[in-house]
Amino acid sequence: MGLWTRITRLFRRPEIAKGDFSTIPEHIAIIPDGNGRWAKKRGLPRSVGHREGSMALKKVVIYCSDIGVKYLSVFAFSTENWKRPKSEVDALMDLLVEFLRNAEKELDGSNVRIKVIGDTLGLPAELQQEILRVEKLTGVNDGLNLIICLNYGGRIELLDAVKKIAHKVKEGKLEVEDIDEKQLENCLYTAGIPEPDLLIRTSGEQRISNYLLWQCAYTEFWFTPELWPDVNGSHIAEALKAFELRNRRFGGISQ
Ligand code: IPE
Ligand code: IPE
Ligand code: MG
Repeated sequence: MGLWTRITRLFRRPEIAKGDFSTIPEHIAIIPDGNGRWAKKRGLPRSVGHREGSMALKKVVIYCSDIGVKYLSVFAFSTENWKRPKSEVDALMDLLVEFLRNAEKELDGSNVRIKVIGDTLGLPAELQQEILRVEKLTGVNDGLNLIICLNYGGRIELLDAVKKIAHKVKEGKLEVEDIDEKQLENCLYTAGIPEPDLLIRTSGEQRISNYLLWQCAYTEFWFTPELWPDVNGSHIAEALKAFELRNRRFGGISQ
């Protein structure tokens, strides 16, 4: 067991264990928001908030892995985040490289499998290489699936899917009448990944910001005013407690 694993285990809250929940969502999606405000409150550069945010992410990944969540998807950089100042974008890209570079060491023993979705070809070459390396390395793991959404946008994902389908029709491989939800889902970046059961957004904002638009059709939403760098397993536990009380009807009626 690595040093990091030993340190992070100290932060774990043994009182919040798997058995404390009547149901654990199979897929939790997170919009980790508020890094910038966290830094501003302290008179620090926004990049410091992002660095603290990446540490919060490690804690949350370990917590979710411990309690048996199968899929955790995290919005790390949106297709709209390029609008930010170049210095902030560069700092974020560097941090992402660092996060992936240290991931297997710092998530040591967690058996986490990492997958990145989004327009990865639009990312810096160094980051693309790191993504390929870490996906290959952790591909053999069968624990929590950590899906990092990078240069991701729900609209562009849907547009890409529509184009893939149009090509299939043009090539005579698919009839227009046979286009159904399954066909479209198979063309999304998330093909093979179950829909999120629970979406958590921090920092008090209550919007979707172009995240998993198709996939969240029946997802339960949970919002907290907490800024992302302050988040740890206990906040996820709070979300899970709220999730337990939700009555998911999917358009039907209560049992
Ligand atoms: C979320 O924090 C992280 C990313 C978008 C990468 P923000 O950077 O959006 O923080 P706020 O919302 O400005 O506080
Ligand atoms: C959503 O947060 C994207 C990520 C967390 C990566 P933003 O901070 O970019 O969203 P808006 O602009 O407040 O909607
Ligand atoms: Mg934000």
